[in-house]
Amino acid sequence: MRRKITMAATAGALALSLAACGGGGAGSTEGEEGAGGEVDASDITVGVAMPTETSERWIADGNAVKDGLEALGYQVDLQYAGDDIPTQTQQIDQMITSGADVLIIASIDGTALTSQLENAAAQDIPVIAYDRLIRDSENVDFYVTFDNFAVGVAQGTALLRGMGILDAAGTRVADAAGPFNIELFAGSPDDNNAGFFFEGAMSVLQPLIDDGTLVVKSGQTDFDTVATLRWSQEAAQSRMENLLTSTYSDGSMLAGVLSPFDGISRGIITALQGVGMGPDIEAGLPIVTGQDAEIASVKLINDGVQSSTIFKDTRKLAEQSITVAQAFIDGEEPEANDTETYDNGIKVVPSYLLTVDTVFAEDIAPLLVDSEYWTADEVASGVAE
Ligand code: BGC
Repeated sequence: MRRKITMAATAGALALSLAACGGGGAGSTEGEEGAGGEVDASDITVGVAMPTETSERWIADGNAVKDGLEALGYQVDLQYAGDDIPTQTQQIDQMITSGADVLIIASIDGTALTSQLENAAAQDIPVIAYDRLIRDSENVDFYVTFDNFAVGVAQGTALLRGMGILDAAGTRVADAAGPFNIELFAGSPDDNNAGFFFEGAMSVLQPLIDDGTLVVKSGQTDFDTVATLRWSQEAAQSRMENLLTSTYSDGSMLAGVLSPFDGISRGIITALQGVGMGPDIEAGLPIVTGQDAEIASVKLINDGVQSSTIFKDTRKLAEQSITVAQAFIDGEEPEANDTETYDNGIKVVPSYLLTVDTVFAEDIAPLLVDSEYWTADEVASGVAE
């Protein structure tokens, strides 16, 4: 990186680049003059590590990052790790060995990459954490993500709106006094985002639990109990089945389930339908939230089965990560819009946060189809083409 950027960057920009990557002090504006003039973009390789292909969003993320970087002329080494931590660490080791100049990493376990990042730092390779914060390392140079607490707030709010406790404007509906039974699910405990989503959602739900409007009938409310390792749909289905047996087999009504991710939502819905609830909301299926606007869930929302999801436009996140990678390559300091929230246990990582949208059935056309995220045919079939 240092050698190539020495050639690519202007003298002043180089110093900034090294300061930004290495965490050094304010760089002098006088740097080394490049030896060989302009470096060809095709000499720069960006390693892109993605967690899994089992969820569409990561496929969309990976493709968008790859296409955008290739359009700028860079080489891209895109790898998926099948949600397996050793596979991801090996892939990143390999990227470093084969000469990656920048790393963009969506981690599986945010705490498992410390030694990889030490190697990257030793070779002045800037590391961009993609969507998920990499923890316990000083060698994370930048974080691009969505506003994860806001995602949770949107999920909690969507649960209340789906249940008719809030109207579309977010105002409390007077005659929805409850008490309503709900259950809570959170994401993977090794993903830093999962805690933000849960805290955001609980910031909305807890006051209504406290005033008796909502009752978590199982009593399972702490993060570790409600978390879902690796965001597994199967694990969520089986926890929901257990909850139905332990808590609702006496015929108690379940009004809603907080779900942090569409895969988990579908597992929950399968369990609910499995005991004869629904099959859709109109026929009494409990309100289930989601995240990611996965096509299978968008179809379920369109069909009145899943209540809502949160749309994170992965194209925008990919674009942002490319802007940041480009800044590092150009020897500039990437622009952050949050320098307070994301403490990774060692340092606060400068971040760029994007906004999200809540999707109910009526939002599918304006938010997802008009923006060409999904086509109307894909929404109807539930299958990505
Ligand atoms: C992402 C979510 C996604 C989840 C499961 C999280 O880190 O922020 O968008 O639903 O992982 O893949």
